[in-house]
Amino acid sequence: MQIISSLSEISKQVDQIRSSGKTIGFVPTMGALHAGHLQLIRTAASQNSVVVCSIFVNPTQFNNAEDYRLYPRLLEEDARILEANKCSILFAPDATEMYPEPLVIQFNFGTLETVMEGKYRPGHFNGVATVVSKLFHLVNPHKAYFGQKDLQQYTIIRQMVNDLNFNLKLVCHPIVREPDGLAMSSRNRRLSAAERQVATNLYRALLLAQDLLPAYEINYIKKAVADFLQPYNNIKLEYLEVVNLKSLQPLTQRTGEEGVALCIAAFIGEVRLIDNIIIQ
Ligand code: PAF
Repeated sequence: MQIISSLSEISKQVDQIRSSGKTIGFVPTMGALHAGHLQLIRTAASQNSVVVCSIFVNPTQFNNAEDYRLYPRLLEEDARILEANKCSILFAPDATEMYPEPLVIQFNFGTLETVMEGKYRPGHFNGVATVVSKLFHLVNPHKAYFGQKDLQQYTIIRQMVNDLNFNLKLVCHPIVREPDGLAMSSRNRRLSAAERQVATNLYRALLLAQDLLPAYEINYIKKAVADFLQPYNNIKLEYLEVVNLKSLQPLTQRTGEEGVALCIAAFIGEVRLIDNIIIQ
C-alpha cells in the first residue's frame, strides 16, 4: 500500500491508474477505522481495480472545537488495518495543504440542511461539502463509498454530485452494528464503559419508534422515545425525527407508502452519536 500526503502526488498517481484502464473506488474517512469502514473498503475492493482511502480529520466540518480536538487520531494503526484489507493507496493530506488560505466558498443546500444535523451543527455541511468536493477532484474516483449512518451527509453529497455533475457513482452502504445494536462509529471509542453500556438504547429507541409508526401519530412517537430514554441520566436526546427519505423534511403523519427515515441524535455523556433506520 502506498501512503501519500501530497496533493500533487495523489493526482499524479490516480491519473496513471486511470490511464492504464483501471477503475478507482474511493472511501473517504476521518480515520479511527472500525468494522463499518472495513465493509466500505471490502465493497470498494470487490467493485474496482484499485481502492483509495483517505484519512483526514477535516477541521472545517467541526462546529465544536473540543469535538475536533478529541476526535480519535490513529494513523499508524489505521494504515496497518488498511494494508491488511486490500487498500492500494492511503491518502492522508495535511490540513495546511488542504486549506492553504481561509475558505471563502459557501455551499447552501436549502431545506436539506436546515433540519437535524444541519440545524444542530451550523456550518457542518458546508465543511463536509467543501472537503468532499476537494477530495473528489484530487482522487477522481469512478465510485465513492459512504455509510448510511450519516444519512443526511449522504443525501447532501448526492445532491452536490448531481448539481455539480461530478462524474462518479455514489454507493451508500447499510449501517454496520455491534452485536447489541449500537451503530459503529469512530466516536464510540470515546465512550466510558458505563456510557458504552447505555449507548445501545439509541438503537432500541429507534426500534420502538419503528414499532409505533404504523399505528401512532409522530408527535406521540417522539414523546414515547423521549420517555423511553428519560431514565438514563447520561443520555441527552437532541432529536428524534421521522423524515421523508428523499427530502429529509420532518413528517407529522406518515402518509401513503413514501420511504421514511427514523433519525436520532443524542449525547451519551460528552459524546454525540447519531443513528437511523430506513423504512422503504
Ligand atoms: O463521514 C466522514 O467520515 C466525513 O464526514 C467525510 C465524508 C470523510 C468528510 O470529512
